[in-house]
Amino acid sequence: MSCYTFTLTLQELPLLAKLMAGNLRKGDVVALWGDLGVGKTTFARVLIQALIGHTVEVPSPTFTLVQTYDCQLSEIWHCDLYRLTNPTEALELGIEDAFYTTICLIEWPEKLGKFLPINRIDMLFKIKDETTREITVTLIGVHDSLQTAFEPYARRMS
Ligand SMILES: Nc1ncnc2c1ncn2[C@@H]1O[C@H](COP(=O)(O)OP(=O)(O)O)[C@@H](O)[C@H]1O
Ligand SMILES: [Mg+2]
Repeated sequence: MSCYTFTLTLQELPLLAKLMAGNLRKGDVVALWGDLGVGKTTFARVLIQALIGHTVEVPSPTFTLVQTYDCQLSEIWHCDLYRLTNPTEALELGIEDAFYTTICLIEWPEKLGKFLPINRIDMLFKIKDETTREITVTLIGVHDSLQTAFEPYARRMS
C-alpha cells in the first residue's frame, strides 16, 4: 500500500488525471471519497476526458447511478452511489462485473459496504480553500505500472 498527497487547483487536475489515465487498466477500481462539493465529479470528468483523449460531456451520475463511456483501453463506468439505500441496488446494476471488465470510478464508495473491492485506488478529497483541493491517493493491491507512475511525480506535484 502506498499513499501520495497532491494539492491541486482546478487547472492542475489534468496533471493528476493524465498521470492516472496513462496507467489505468481494465479492472481498475477508483474509489472517490469525500463530502458533497469537494470535487469528486469534477475530477472524474477530467479523468474520463484524459482516458478518452478529448472533451466529452460528463454529467454527474447522481440520478442515473451510473454513466458509461468507451475509451480505447476499456469501457469506463462512472458511478455515483449517493442515493443508494442498500448495496444490493448496485449489485443489480452489475457493478461486480464492472469491477473486472471496466475502469470503474465510484463516488460514495462507502455505500457499497463489504462489496467494495479490497484492491483499488482510493482518492480522498478535502477542501483546502475555495480553489484548491487536497487529494490523497492510496494504491492498494494495484498493478506495478500505477505504482511506478506515482513514485516520481507525487512529490513534485504536491
Ligand atoms: N481544485 C479543485 N478540484 C475540484 N473541484 C474544484 C476545485 N476547485 C474548485 N472546485 C469546485 O468545487 C466544486 C466541486 O463539485 P463536484 O465536483 O460536483 O463535487 P462532488 O462530486 O464531490 O460533490 C465544483 O464547483 C468545482 O468547480
Ligand atoms: Mg459528485
